[in-house]
Formats: sequence, structure tokens, C-alpha cells
Amino acid sequence: MPGKSSKVRIFEDRETACRTLAGELAGLIATVNASGRDAVLGLATGNTPVPLYRELVRLHREEGLSFARVVTFNLDEYLGLPREHPESYWTFMHRQLFDHVDIAPENIHIPAGQPDDVGTHCAEYEQAIRDAGGIDFQLLGIGRTGHIGFNEPGSPRDSRTRRIELDPVTREDAADAFGGLDQVPTHAITMGCGTILEARRLGLLAFGERKAAIVREAIEGPITAEVSASFLQEHPDAAFFLDREAAEQLG
Ligand code: F6R
Repeated sequence: MPGKSSKVRIFEDRETACRTLAGELAGLIATVNASGRDAVLGLATGNTPVPLYRELVRLHREEGLSFARVVTFNLDEYLGLPREHPESYWTFMHRQLFDHVDIAPENIHIPAGQPDDVGTHCAEYEQAIRDAGGIDFQLLGIGRTGHIGFNEPGSPRDSRTRRIELDPVTREDAADAFGGLDQVPTHAITMGCGTILEARRLGLLAFGERKAAIVREAIEGPITAEVSASFLQEHPDAAFFLDREAAEQLG
């Protein structure tokens, strides 16, 4: 039955959820590398995956997890920000993960904040994902608008990597980090829903009571472009990793 293929996994707390997922990602990297190719990971930014990246760094330092044969594609980037801006997702990813593991710089892909031509850049991003053989595992968070990546309400199921206007709720949620709403970019580049849903496996992390209402809509509500995370219901291998607070409104 459509609507019920995604799995819901509820954990005691966010650290346990992230430790579990990190272990599964380490296993996936090992399995894919053993099959003779690089593992391709789609990555997310934001507050939610911070403990996951911390655990991946620990696994690298203490348990020999190598990123030497890992290729990454990040979901999104704010338009207008130079790489070195403290709130760019390029900066975030390097501080949280890439600076601390053995990934090859040429294997890292993050949409550019200041591309010469947005349309060309987005088409090249899509092509790079195809050239890498597609994404083995896509990590996701969820915004209070229900977005995955920055696919704000109204983003079609088959949308591709593109420029998008950020929803006012999303900009408000970023205001503190940027030091004021007027400092938050108005637009971003995001992988599309269609791009994301082509990943062979998806894992969406959501923690805290602030996410409970939108998590319920994404998992139990109608499948609709108004809540792009609801498209996960139709994916054959998608799981929601929740803490108790984020799961509290589930029926
Ligand atoms: C980030 C991204 C967004 C975030 C979402 C939740 O790359 O694509 O969809 O996952 O906005 O953000 P946090 O985790 O800060 O609540």
C-alpha cells in the first residue's frame, strides 16, 4: 500500500539515534567498498546531524573507519554566500566532518553559493551525481515547513537541483545563526525532491518536540508537495530516525 513503506525508528535520545546510524553508515561504506567501488553519500547540514558527524569522526579516529573511498554530495547551499562565510554549508561540513577525516577533497561536492550561472551549475551537479553512479545513502533532516533539502512547500515530486526561494519560516529559523533575519539569504540551491528520492536508501533524522508536528504530517499525513518529506512514504528504503520527543505526536 503506498504511504506505508517508510520505517519509523524511535530512540531514547538523539545520541543513540546518531550512534546507530553512524554504525550503519560505517557498515554500508565497508560493504560498498568491498564490492569494488566508492560509497556515495548524500549529506545534510543543520543542527540535527551534528552528533552523527561527531560519531563518524570518532569512528574514523578510534575504529579505523576510512573515507578514502567515499564520495559525498551535500543537499544544499545558501545562494550569495562565499565558501568562507561562517554560515555557509561549505564551512559547516568542513568544520563538522571533512577537516577531521581522510576524505579526498575532490570527492566532496557541495552546491556553490556563488556560481557563475545557476542553471549550468545545477545541471552539472545532477550530472556529477549520475557520473558517481547515484547516491547509496541520503541523509536528511526536516524543516518546520516539511522541507527536505530546501524543497519548500510546493516543490514537485520530480523536481531537480535548482534555485529556490526560502520559506519565511525557514529564514526565521536561521535568523539567530545569521545574527538577524535581514542577514539570512533569501534563496538557496537545493537538490530536488526527484534527485533525493533517487537515492537507493534514505535516512531522515528529526529530534526534539519542535519537530513533532511536522514529523507526524510527514509520516502519517497525505503524500503532498506541501510537505516534501511526505514523499519518503513512497520510497522503498526510507527510515525516520526519531527521538521520543519528535515521535510524540505519532498515532
Ligand atoms: C540542511 C537541509 C535542511 C535541514 C532542515 C533541518 O542541509 O537540507 O533540510 O535538514 O532545515 O534543520 P535543523 O537540523 O537545523 O533543524
